Amino acid sequence: MTLRDVGGGDIDVFYKHQLDPAAIWMAAFTSRNPEGRDAFDSHWRKVLDDRSNTVKTILFNGGIAGHVAKYIDEGRPEVTYWIDRALWGKGIATDALLKFLAIVAVCPIFARAARDNIASLTVLKKCGFVITGDGTGYANGRRGEVEEFVLRLD
Ligand SMILES: CC(C)(COP(=O)(O)OP(=O)(O)OC[C@H]1O[C@@H](n2cnc3c(N)ncnc32)[C@H](O)[C@@H]1OP(=O)(O)O)[C@@H](O)C(=O)NCCC(=O)NCCS
Repeated sequence: MTLRDVGGGDIDVFYKHQLDPAAIWMAAFTSRNPEGRDAFDSHWRKVLDDRSNTVKTILFNGGIAGHVAKYIDEGRPEVTYWIDRALWGKGIATDALLKFLAIVAVCPIFARAARDNIASLTVLKKCGFVITGDGTGYANGRRGEVEEFVLRLD
């Protein structure tokens, strides 16, 4: 598993990853319409143009396995990640997040996950995050209110 800067063609692959229904349910807090390619491209242009963000493509066995990113939410750095469903359960997210945290090197750093997103919570805990809060918000991926945990790494 390696990380590299995001290349132009990577966005096509990220688009396919975020169309997976099981992944959308799991992540819950997704875009309103994952199939909307124009909105997806415009979102990614903004993400990559914003110099306060750090975004890396995750490579596994030479192919694009997903992405991991740090962005600023309400003044606080937060991480997010997405792995191709075909590659779940191989430790890729955990490995990628550990490497990514060493690159961004900022503390404290935060994350959020739906309370029932056990895989993501496991990844975060293995990387040293601890649950510091919870809340409820509208989740496009489930078209309803979803409880989430807020996690923090010091
Ligand atoms: C969450 C996600 C990134 C995990 O990626 P991954 O590469 O499969 O994660 P890893 O293999 O590094 O670790 C997953 C851990 O969760 C565990 N896990 C996975 N599904 C689980 C479940 N339903 N119940 C309990 N544990 C589960 C795995 O066993 C593994 O733990 P282990 O290493 O102790 O065995 C991936 O499922 C994904 O992209 N989901 C959709 C997007 C998303 O939810 N992003 C996070 C938003 S907060």
